[in-house]
Amino acid sequence: MAAAEKPADSTTASATLEGAEDFSRRVLTWFDRDGRKDLPWQQPRDPYRVWVSEIMLQQTRVNTVIGYFRRFMEAFPDVAALAAAELDQVLHHWSGLGYYARARNLHRAATAIMVRHQGVVPDDIETLQALPGIGRSTAGAIRSLAFGGYAPILDGNVKRVLARHFAVPGWPGRSGVQKQLWRLSEELTPRRRTADYNQAMMDLGATRCLRGRPLCDACPLNLSCRALAEGDPARYPAPKPKKPLPVRTTHMVILSDSSGAVLLEQRPPSGVWGGLWSLPESPSGQPLERWCSDALGYEVEERARLTPRRHSFSHFHLDIIPVVVRMKNPVKGLMDGGARVWYNLSQPDDLGLAAPVSRILSEIRQLDNEQQPEGEAP
Ligand code: ADE
Repeated sequence: MAAAEKPADSTTASATLEGAEDFSRRVLTWFDRDGRKDLPWQQPRDPYRVWVSEIMLQQTRVNTVIGYFRRFMEAFPDVAALAAAELDQVLHHWSGLGYYARARNLHRAATAIMVRHQGVVPDDIETLQALPGIGRSTAGAIRSLAFGGYAPILDGNVKRVLARHFAVPGWPGRSGVQKQLWRLSEELTPRRRTADYNQAMMDLGATRCLRGRPLCDACPLNLSCRALAEGDPARYPAPKPKKPLPVRTTHMVILSDSSGAVLLEQRPPSGVWGGLWSLPESPSGQPLERWCSDALGYEVEERARLTPRRHSFSHFHLDIIPVVVRMKNPVKGLMDGGARVWYNLSQPDDLGLAAPVSRILSEIRQLDNEQQPEGEAP
């Protein structure tokens, strides 16, 4: 079984005390040389600025946040100013950052801090977590970065660093995997220089242990990284398991005129196969002959069904049943409006065809050729 698919608790990663000290020493040495130390919320650093920056950074990259943070601080320089502002003003300053629940929660939390905590941002994990928009990791970041207290964190970047370094299998959204990662974070986070260590872990995730192409040569943890030793660090953390895609079924009608040309329809400009040419599709559950007569205007009888096939889109599987039908009153080569053509299989026009339609038409062409009596000209 691939390592990233092993059940979460088959190898419970753990750090020894000695290993943890070595780990945090390397992280801190890297921080002293390469860590980010002059981000706007670090200079000057106060609990209000750290809190606002951590909320902005929850779903947004540092480079995007910087400008928003500066403008936000000019408009709302402290908790009192934020609590006194109209929500609309706050949302206006958030406009473009996305995930607007963050701004609404920030505003509500500012009021709560004014009412319950005399305008002072709390410094303990439980009180911080009781405020709107603050989860365990954000509370840990505020406690450590703003107050210098001991608190482990586990944001997306830290999850990735730990999952790779300890080759933790499974998707971190699963509670067993999450628990394991929190335990590692608790074991590894040093009581001295917690703020620098936490900042360094977030920076490592954001600048070295990249999601798709980790820069392992420039990582201070590369010698002990188990995912790197296994040879493919990007396999960790395991992605979210995909939900099974819905399946739709369609009958594609292969209707030929007396010269053997096949009727095609142009798809609407948007949606799947937008603007391409395809076979007419009769909805499942409706008698095909009736549909051909109502929708296409031809009286037909069914001749044969070709092998059904599946075509998969990103959001659904399409099970296609190709049905060859024969016209009861054959017509010759007339076109029926701009969105339909009779398509000559032996001298095909240059049309953009949907991929499975192109394959079906090739099969039909081959069948037609095989059915030509020997010796007769095609
Ligand atoms: N992501 C969340 N918090 C962060 C921080 N303080 N620095 C960099 N990235 C972060």
